[in-house]
Parts: sequence; structure tokens; C-alpha cells
Amino acid sequence: MAQEARDPVTGRVTTGHEWNGIEELDTPIPRVVLFFLVTATLFAVGYWLLMPAWPLGVTYTKGLLGNDQREIVTRQVKEAAAARASWTARIAEAPFATIAADPALMRHVRETGRTLFADNCSVCHGTEGRGGPGYPSLAAGAWLWGGSPETIAETIRVGINSTTKDTRTAQMMAFGRDGVLQREQVLAVVAYVRSLSGQSLGEPEQARVPAGREVFAANCVACHGPEGKGLHDLGAPNLTDGHWIYGGDPQSIFNSVQNGRQGHMPSWEGRLSPEDIKLLALYVGTLSGEAK
Ligand code: HEC
Ligand code: HEC
Repeated sequence: MAQEARDPVTGRVTTGHEWNGIEELDTPIPRVVLFFLVTATLFAVGYWLLMPAWPLGVTYTKGLLGNDQREIVTRQVKEAAAARASWTARIAEAPFATIAADPALMRHVRETGRTLFADNCSVCHGTEGRGGPGYPSLAAGAWLWGGSPETIAETIRVGINSTTKDTRTAQMMAFGRDGVLQREQVLAVVAYVRSLSGQSLGEPEQARVPAGREVFAANCVACHGPEGKGLHDLGAPNLTDGHWIYGGDPQSIFNSVQNGRQGHMPSWEGRLSPEDIKLLALYVGTLSGEAK
């Protein structure tokens, strides 16, 4: 075993071990590897000391910094609940007008209302409340039942043609299908309804308007009013304002008169808290830009 055996090719010291003429070089670990090994170990030890790290059965090492994500989250949730409780209580107690006049409360109404609306209402009324075929826009200011926060809250509470006993009821009968009106009369009244909202009519449609006016006066004014402007008490829509639930083209109006319409709006009492219903009513009011 030579002590200073050197490899003739690299000039490095060998370990002196030799197997069938193959000798093992004594190459030290590169410094850079050692450096990172030591640094990483020191970092790990420091981290274990400062932060929550090692599980110890039911508990764990908490770390010197006391930086516990779970506790931080729990604390934040508690703080948020306390902050929310203070203004939910005010929304629950104050009359609509007081809340509407309070910019700080209305900020909460808009923030929380947007989430509540997205979770419960946007499937039917659209994310911005603009509605779609069969679902009225809540942003147009064209109300079936009325746009005051009290009325909106009541609509949300009981629903329309819903399963609750005090539901609002909207019944547009099937005048054609049930034989109340003949086909010619239906076509005539469709033409008249289109003229009410100022749509341009073709030659044959224009000719039907006078007959349609008579059909309307005899069959429709009880609910839609003498001028077709609708009646909030019955949820009968204004037919003159160019806002349509089901569509203002001849075919859609024909279908409305021929087959009738009964929109279904679920009742939210029992599913949403009274405060949330109140808050949503105020939020819905902001959609049409009536309340700020
Ligand atoms: C399943 C679909 C559906 C859902 C969900 C729904 N609505 Fe409606 N909503 C309707 C329909 C349909 C009408 C119109 C009923 C009719 O045509 O008579 C309506 C009508 C309304 C009206 C009356 C509008 C007016 O002009 O008077 C308000 C207010 C309203 N919805 C608010 C809400 C709010 C707030 C929510 C969420 C809590 C909601 N709706 C969820 C279907 C829905
Ligand atoms: C008993 C009351 C009542 C009578 C009578 C009535 N309507 Fe209606 N009408 C309603 C209600 C309520 C609605 C809304 C239905 C709904 O969406 O649930 C409606 C909806 C409509 C619509 C759909 C409007 C839209 O926005 O798409 C048209 C069109 C219409 N009525 C035309 C007529 C015509 C024409 C007559 C007469 C032949 C008539 N209505 C008679 C209550 C009535």
C-alpha cells in the first residue's frame, strides 16, 4: 500500500485500493456541493425552529414566530363575521329608505348583493339581471309588479306562480288555444299590440290594426290597461315600452296570445334569510340605476 500513490493520467492521489489493476481516485466532494449541503441544512434547522414544523402525535412544534396559518385564517373569519354582523343588523332593522340613503350600507348591499344574486338569481335573470327569453330583465326599469324595494322584496319572498300559498299570480290566458278568440282575431290583436310599441308593420298587418284595437278593448284592457301600459297589481306587463319577456316579434306575440303565459318565479322565503331578501331587493333596485 503506497501512501502517496498517484494516478499517472490525472496526477491525483488514489485511495490505494486496487482491483485487478483498476485504482480508485481519491477525488474530494466539490466545494460548491458541500456549500449548498451545509446552507440547506442550516436553513432547514432555522425553519424548523421558527415555523410550525414537526408533528408530535396530537400536537406539533409551533415555531418561535407563532406564524400559524390555521389560526390566522380562523382569526380573519371571526373578524369578518364580526364586521358583517354589525351591518347585517343595521340592514335588518333600518327601513329601506334609510339604508338606500346610507352610502356605506349601500356599498355592502352592492358587494354582498352581487354574490347573493350570482348564487341564486343569475341562472334565470342573467349575471347583470338583464334577463333573457322567458325571464324578465330586472335592469330595465320595466316592472311587472313594481320597482320599489318593498315590492321587489315581496316578489322575492313569495315568488310568482310559485308553490307558496301567498304567491303572486300572473295568468295570461290561452286566448287562441282555448277558443276565446278566433285565429283572425288573434292575428288582429297581435298587429295592434305591435303597433302599441311603435314597431313598423307590413301592409297586411297594418290593415288588421283597427280590428285588433277592438279585440284588445274587449279582452285585454282588464289586465293590460286601456292603453296597454300594464297593471302592477296583476303583474301584467306594459306592452308599449319595447321591453319584452317573451319577445316582440309577430311570432312571439302570437304565441303569447294563442297559448298564454305563466312565468314561474320561485319563492325565496325559508331559503334566504329575511335580511338577505331585503338586501337583494335593494341590490335589484340598483340594477336599473334607480337607486345609487
Ligand atoms: C327559476 C328561474 C328564476 C330564478 C332562480 C329567479 N327568478 Fe325572478 N323571476 C323569474 C321569472 C320567470 C319571473 C317573471 C314571472 C312572470 O313572467 O310573471 C321573475 C320575476 C322576478 C321579479 C319581478 C320583476 C318585476 O318586473 O316585477 C323579481 C323582482 C325577481 N324575479 C327577482 C329575483 C331574484 C332577486 C332572484 C334570486 C333570489 C330571482 N328572481 C330568481 C324566474 C326566476
Ligand atoms: C287576466 C289578465 C290578462 C288578460 C285578460 C290578458 N293578459 Fe296578457 N298578460 C298577462 C300577464 C299576467 C302576463 C305576464 C305573464 C307572465 O309572464 O307570467 C301577460 C303577458 C302578455 C304578453 C307577453 C308580453 C311579453 O313581455 O312578452 C302579451 C303579448 C300579452 N300578454 C298580450 C295580451 C293580449 C293581446 C291580451 C288580450 C287578448 C291579453 N294579453 C290579455 C295578463 C293578462
